[in-house]
Amino acid sequence: MATQITAGTSELRDITKMERIGAHSHVRGLGLDDRLEPRDNSQGMVGQGKARKAAGMILRMVQDGRIAGRAILFAGPPSTGKTAIALGMAQTLGQDVPFTMIAASEVFSLSMSKTEALTQAIRRSIGVRIREETEIIEGEVVEIQIDRSLTGATKTGKLTIKTTDMETIYDLGTKMIDALSKEKVLAGDVIVIDKTSGKISKLGRSFTRSRDYDAMGADTKFVQCPEGEIQKRKEVVHTVSLHEIDVINSRTQGFLALFAGDTGEIKPELREQINTKVAEWREEGKAEIIPGVLFIDEVHMLDIECFSFLNRALENELSPLVIMASNRGMSRIRGTNVRSPHGLPVDLLDRVLIVSTRPYSEEEIQQIIQIRCEEEDVTLTSDALNVLTSMASSTTLRYALNLISCAQMISRKRKAEQVGVEDLRRAYTYFMDEKRSVQWLKEQQGSLVFEEISVSTTAEKGGAADTMET
Ligand SMILES: Nc1ncnc2c1ncn2[C@@H]1O[C@H](COP(=O)(O)OP(=O)(O)OP(=O)(O)O)[C@@H](O)[C@H]1O
Ligand SMILES: [Mg+2]
Repeated sequence: MATQITAGTSELRDITKMERIGAHSHVRGLGLDDRLEPRDNSQGMVGQGKARKAAGMILRMVQDGRIAGRAILFAGPPSTGKTAIALGMAQTLGQDVPFTMIAASEVFSLSMSKTEALTQAIRRSIGVRIREETEIIEGEVVEIQIDRSLTGATKTGKLTIKTTDMETIYDLGTKMIDALSKEKVLAGDVIVIDKTSGKISKLGRSFTRSRDYDAMGADTKFVQCPEGEIQKRKEVVHTVSLHEIDVINSRTQGFLALFAGDTGEIKPELREQINTKVAEWREEGKAEIIPGVLFIDEVHMLDIECFSFLNRALENELSPLVIMASNRGMSRIRGTNVRSPHGLPVDLLDRVLIVSTRPYSEEEIQQIIQIRCEEEDVTLTSDALNVLTSMASSTTLRYALNLISCAQMISRKRKAEQVGVEDLRRAYTYFMDEKRSVQWLKEQQGSLVFEEISVSTTAEKGGAADTMET
């Protein structure tokens, strides 16, 4: 074996979860009960019972490790909750099971080949749970002493740490000093230091210090001073994805690339070595493979090469569950002149289980609007709620949801607490929905630039205009 393959020691989580009110921030799960029956209105989910139940069944199988290398397609008209359900699945999966979400068009916009982008996405969705023995230092901090050089550029120091049985002094370098100050470690804290990664975690404050006068928050946790040796061996379990192992071991990339997200292409030979190594770990009982979920939104935007690559990848031993979503009916497969259902080639369609989503009833739309209002902290008068619901039925659900915050702005201007019908009406006149926009374009014939698109160019370009939602 040429290179040493390591799994790294840090636990990394995707940083995609954002704390803002996004289009799907109200979705907290699939809203199913223990028997996987959909509840009427739960975890931010309303209606679409069959699809949610199907999603729940699939999840159950993933969690039992019984399904991998399979593919599911959510097919249905725009804004019928395909993306929302997939995100609900992600929330239900649990911390340990990887979930990767890409929009098909991302595959084309990265600075790497399409197949490489897909391979990375696939390997991101396969977790490796690794058991390792690591050396740790555990004890109560007695004293931290830091000496700064005159310029402040280098720091050295000493850390005195004790258990009930012994006391030791460690020399500190700049890196450890920074880590200690970042964690705000003080004398009297009980800490654990992972010797391989240098990661410091605070367990709490020692009971012996509970009477100290210094200011403590209400959430201060008190723990006993540890017993026995200061240095111990401890078994730790951590989950990393195959892609993370790839990047960490790729000599040109290194660890930092994981945070920068700029990973470039990874050599196939390296991947092979890693696969062999992981298989070895598995046999030794050191590692476990956790097939996760890869969600490809707007999957009709992939082209024929990607589809055939996916076909092959699904048959691979290390393959995640692939969930796709498409809002296309019969449409051209990108990169060919063939029409096919959902814009997917028939051989791929043959391998997937198709779950369809249907448009919502008026009552369901009303409930979704209410949920969104709560999420965005907007109060509608009951008349306004009815008006917005009927607007959603005559335009689209998304348009109506977008109007909520616009109408709120208008109502704030007149210093009202609640959003009324009048605010909605005004928002409706400021912002056009798709139907009115088409109508308007017809009326404006000729006055806009680049209106006419000849048939031949559309065929060359591939995808027609797509909805913006990802
Ligand atoms: N069953 C539901 N319960 C609660 N909210 C929903 C539900 N279905 C959809 N929504 C919300 O409605 C909006 C549109 O739904 P979503 O984006 O999931 O549609 P989509 O099927 O992915 O459409 P497209 O094909 O255009 O991508 C989102 O804000 C979504 O969170
Ligand atoms: Mg979508």
